[in-house]
Amino acid sequence: MPHYVYIETVGCQMNVLDSEMVVASLRQHGYQLVDSVDQADTILFNTCSVRQHAEDKIYSALGQLRRHKQRYPEKIIGVLGCMAQKDQRLIFERAPYVDLVVGPGQLQQTAELIEQARAGGGRQLAVSLGRRDGPVEQIRRSHETFDPLRDPTMRPTPFQAYLRIQIGCDKFCTYCVVPMTRGPEQGRPPEDILAEARLLADQGCKEITLLGQTVNSYRYHSGGRTTRLADLLVALHDIAGIQRLKFVTNYPQDMTAELLQTVRGLPRCSRYLHVPLQSGSNRILRSMKRGYTVEDYREMMARIREFLPGAAVSSDFIVGFCGETEDEFQQSMQMVRECRFKSSFVFKYSERPGTKAAELLPDDVPEDVKRRRNQELLALQDAVSEEDNQQFLGRTVEVLVEGPSRAAEKRGEDGDGLQLTGRTMCDRIVVFPGTRRLVGEILPVTIYDCTAHTLIGEVAAAQAGPELVGLSTPLPLAGKA
Ligand code: SAH
Ligand code: SF4
Ligand code: F3S
Repeated sequence: MPHYVYIETVGCQMNVLDSEMVVASLRQHGYQLVDSVDQADTILFNTCSVRQHAEDKIYSALGQLRRHKQRYPEKIIGVLGCMAQKDQRLIFERAPYVDLVVGPGQLQQTAELIEQARAGGGRQLAVSLGRRDGPVEQIRRSHETFDPLRDPTMRPTPFQAYLRIQIGCDKFCTYCVVPMTRGPEQGRPPEDILAEARLLADQGCKEITLLGQTVNSYRYHSGGRTTRLADLLVALHDIAGIQRLKFVTNYPQDMTAELLQTVRGLPRCSRYLHVPLQSGSNRILRSMKRGYTVEDYREMMARIREFLPGAAVSSDFIVGFCGETEDEFQQSMQMVRECRFKSSFVFKYSERPGTKAAELLPDDVPEDVKRRRNQELLALQDAVSEEDNQQFLGRTVEVLVEGPSRAAEKRGEDGDGLQLTGRTMCDRIVVFPGTRRLVGEILPVTIYDCTAHTLIGEVAAAQAGPELVGLSTPLPLAGKA
């Protein structure tokens, strides 16, 4: 009998990739993906615990299903991902109609667990060991990465894909729940990564984004050899068909000269580095246990500017961390001015149970102060972004076309003059008019206007016309961005 699965995903790129994998494996078991709860016989939530707000969203969505499950008791409801690992049985207590709770390390069992629940086997709980629940090796083994199958139809765009190279995290920043939900840091074997990349390339994938919580800390030891991110990039760069390589998220202390030099020598490697700073105050960085100082970060920025001039750097910030004074917040503002990030994600500190900060440091910055600091930092970042985008006016950049822009989708546009969106080699968003046939192509676009978040342009005149269709190799361009 065919089954119908609906899945809602929140959280980071890891979760987006996990959902892709889960649905691909369910498809192999005869499931079809549907886009509403009503059409589904299996309803899954792939969850995030990084901030309270992400959890509230899921518990509220689960609350809304209470009635639905009363009416359709045969439907299976599953909670997957980080909140499953963090809250475990608590989820059954708060939403007793949930049938399965599956941590990020057990996703390979999802199909089987759904089947058991459907067969009347009762509630299914599959989670990994906690970080203090046994010998390290055993804890590691209990967090199993799930990278089985790739299904191009599951990706928002079939020519772009995430590829996991590392799971878990061992940095234990005092505010962060990820080392608990995703377990110990483990690199995947290079041969598995390369095999997956080749498969993706065979499926027509042009851009691969390597994923890890601290992706540039990637290491894999085997047979007396150590493979690092730089080695992986070199190997992946040679795969025919792969035209762009990106990697996120970076840890400042592991942004070595060697890695930057390698990137410089690889023209298909994106000139974009996401390296969260989190705070501009050394006292706050220390109490976050980030493992670097503002001065270290400055040195890293200097290395990036030296080895990869013109590269775009972006950051994350937490505002209102325990005890953050106005002056310390202003130091974060100052670093945005100084580093001129391409963009920054700014988050209000959210206390996470089980973390060192929750245990030892009072969450004492009032909500309205957090909100104001959040807005102030974002406004400053927007001003910096807009100013920096001006340098592109009149320049021609190489754009991988991702699809119709959100505005065009909303307006239901199609045909000629459709507003398309894509990204430059330094990850800037570009919108320009074109046709649907250009989706997936890499094109030269000349920029004539910009906002803080978008470059606005049109396909470079010399290349415009029907000969663009089918273009699949990067064009040699001046002013490559
Ligand atoms: N591994 C990545 C970040 C993963 S979480 C890294 O270390 O850079 C993504 C972002 O969420 C973090 O960079 C941080 O800015 C934010 N974040 C994590 N825990 C948080 C918390 N408890 N409250 C608010 N923001 C948090
Ligand atoms: Fe969390 Fe820090 Fe690890 Fe990033 S490096 S996932 S912020 S503990
Ligand atoms: Fe959230 Fe888990 Fe990612 S907590 S940010 S989904 S690793």
